[in-house]
Amino acid sequence: MSNGNRSFNIAICGLGGMGNWHRETIARIENLNLVGSFDIDPARQRFAEEHGVRPYGSWKELLDDPAVDIVTLAVPNELHRPLAIDALRAGKNVVCEKPVALSSAELRQMADVADAMGMVFTVHQNRRWDEDFLTARKVVESGVLGPVFRIESCVLGCRGIPGDWRQLPERGGGMILDWGVHLLDQILQMFPSDPLRTVRASVDHVTNELVDDGFYADLGFASGLAVHVEVGTSHFISKPRWMVFGRDGSAQIEWGCKGRIVRCTDHSKNDAVPIRTAAGLTKTMAPRTDDTIKEFPLPEVHSDVRDFYRNVMDAIDGRAKIIVKIPEVARVMRLMEAVKKAAESGETVHFEQG
Ligand SMILES: NC(=O)c1ccc[n+]([C@@H]2O[C@H](COP(=O)([O-])OP(=O)(O)OC[C@H]3O[C@@H](n4cnc5c(N)ncnc54)[C@H](O)[C@@H]3O)[C@@H](O)[C@H]2O)c1
Repeated sequence: MSNGNRSFNIAICGLGGMGNWHRETIARIENLNLVGSFDIDPARQRFAEEHGVRPYGSWKELLDDPAVDIVTLAVPNELHRPLAIDALRAGKNVVCEKPVALSSAELRQMADVADAMGMVFTVHQNRRWDEDFLTARKVVESGVLGPVFRIESCVLGCRGIPGDWRQLPERGGGMILDWGVHLLDQILQMFPSDPLRTVRASVDHVTNELVDDGFYADLGFASGLAVHVEVGTSHFISKPRWMVFGRDGSAQIEWGCKGRIVRCTDHSKNDAVPIRTAAGLTKTMAPRTDDTIKEFPLPEVHSDVRDFYRNVMDAIDGRAKIIVKIPEVARVMRLMEAVKKAAESGETVHFEQG
């Protein structure tokens, strides 16, 4: 993926934690020039200046600058819709942080403006470039586990929700929107043509009453695949980042791609030495003997998250299709709404027919 020789000018709106990540990342991308930023916080305006970035005096001044080709929005979630619409109407291509909006209805308004203006509009679903995700997908696609029947994707921390706008529902707080948007997007990316039939879910309110500070969602796909997605912020002992279970083997994948694959080499050899516990005996749960089981390392994957921006430039130039497509983002938005509905009602939500 390359963007040829043409260079693009980009400006960042919101130079907080993630805005600064964009600043650092853009500095390492060929043919992408950071021409300025705007933040309502004077301290972040000074931060920009100290780091050699021009702080625009206002949002309007940034939008009025004809040199700006692309605007990256890294502001709190409730501002994504109005600021994206401003930028698109000003004739800018827009990279919006996740979650793209607070609802699928808001996203439709944004997408309509992007279409009307003919601008590139995409969302920073950067965790599509996470190597743990790419490893899990490669394991599934390789067939090494046989038909996969269950996947667990968990991100569990123990610090509660950061004490800022993320604690407020009207600002788009809560873990479904914060981390759920990544994990659900990854799963839908893994199985793009398997309709998602059912959603069951539950939310946690351990440290916060107003927004969910964790959730689980159980997804039932048309193929029979079951996926468990879980996010937590009060978990002092974690779980593996990924568990993938197939008929012929299992895989465990951690952050940083440590893990292993264990395969059954001979299903027919089924002699088991029962496990005896103080109160009983089980053959079913006895481990397999070494001659029918083999351990393998995980496949290697390499990714470069800068390809996100390279693709944006290529898409503006008409040389590539945008990777993070709005219909995919909309499907994830609808899924997050289904997760909330399932959690509130305690009932199974039927998601897609197809
Ligand atoms: N993709 C990822 O991996 C990832 C990671 C973290 C955060 N994010 C997303 O990035 C966005 C920002 O999160 P953050 O952690 O950087 O938050 P943050 O609070 O650290 O930064 C937000 C910044 O926006 C500024 N701001 C607020 N209102 C503004 C306005 N009207 N105009 C200009 N600036 C304004 C604030 O002053 C602040 O500096 C959120 O949407 C969040 O979900 C994405």
